[in-house]
Amino acid sequence: MRRTTLTQFLIERERAGRINADLRLLIETIARACKAISVRVNKGSLGGGGASVGVQNVQGETQKALDVLSNEILLEANEWGGNLAALASEEMENPSPIPTHYPRGEYLLLFDPLDGSSNIDVNISTGTIFSVLRCPHGHDGKPCEPDEQAFLQPGNKQVAAGFAVYGPTTILVVTVGDGAHGFTLDRETFSFALTHPEIRIPEETSEFAINTSNMRRWEAPVKRYIDECLAGKDGPRGRDFNMRWVASMVADVFRVISRGGIFMYPRDSKNKDGRLRLMYEANPMAFIVEQAGGAATEGRTRILDIQPKGLHQRIAVVLGSKQEVERVASYHP
Ligand code: F6P
Repeated sequence: MRRTTLTQFLIERERAGRINADLRLLIETIARACKAISVRVNKGSLGGGGASVGVQNVQGETQKALDVLSNEILLEANEWGGNLAALASEEMENPSPIPTHYPRGEYLLLFDPLDGSSNIDVNISTGTIFSVLRCPHGHDGKPCEPDEQAFLQPGNKQVAAGFAVYGPTTILVVTVGDGAHGFTLDRETFSFALTHPEIRIPEETSEFAINTSNMRRWEAPVKRYIDECLAGKDGPRGRDFNMRWVASMVADVFRVISRGGIFMYPRDSKNKDGRLRLMYEANPMAFIVEQAGGAATEGRTRILDIQPKGLHQRIAVVLGSKQEVERVASYHP
């Protein structure tokens, strides 16, 4: 069976006037970097990727060799293409403007180079998450200054977003604002083939994903929702629920968009602002989930409407099947 490749898919989007050539090339470049990361992840212990490099990133998390390598792969792949003004990453404290010896473009790229990297050593899926914004012009029409301020735009301004899962297969999910579409890496042709067009999340679900070891610290609305799920068919929900938690957001979100479900990393008494990062985890995932017919909130506010205050800001995340997400939101006063 001849499948549409990512290249063909993006050219069709360009012909339809949905994206310009620069954005098409940018997404292709990110996809190429994801292929390179996938190869390195696949080497596992043979590549020494899970070893700590003895350095903490800006989040205070210990970096592993593969975190650093994945960051470098994405930086090197993207800085010379001429379509970006700056890049920002979970692994870098400040945004990195495009070096002056390369042409500057109109886009800003944010990424989490290797999400779920605590899973590298134990042969469980990891992934890459990315978000693309336009670099805004100054008030007086001046060219965009690609500093941190330029990045601080709400998620509803994203022009593209996506994530790769490095699992039993490598899958790339992409949106440019007209649906969410999944591509599987064909290891024979080494190209991404469209295998999951027009992903739709079932509105109802009986499966939740949350780290229940934090239960004693949750706020009342989340505790109520999970208690009701756990009560099963004898409780107020009148049916049994199942629980899944991979501890790699990319893998958990891919499951949710594939067969329905609700994914939560709520704020709690330890992580008062939540744990996940707004700009390169919550926003791109919220964009994809909404494009697939789901919903994403921090409890009271739609994630895509939050005005960011900092590049590495944390946020509570509740996303997935629409009816369940709306139920959790309705429990918040
Ligand atoms: O980026 C943070 C992350 O690794 C996510 O991918 C994942 O959902 C979460 O942390 C796992 O958290 P915990 O360690 O509490 O299970």
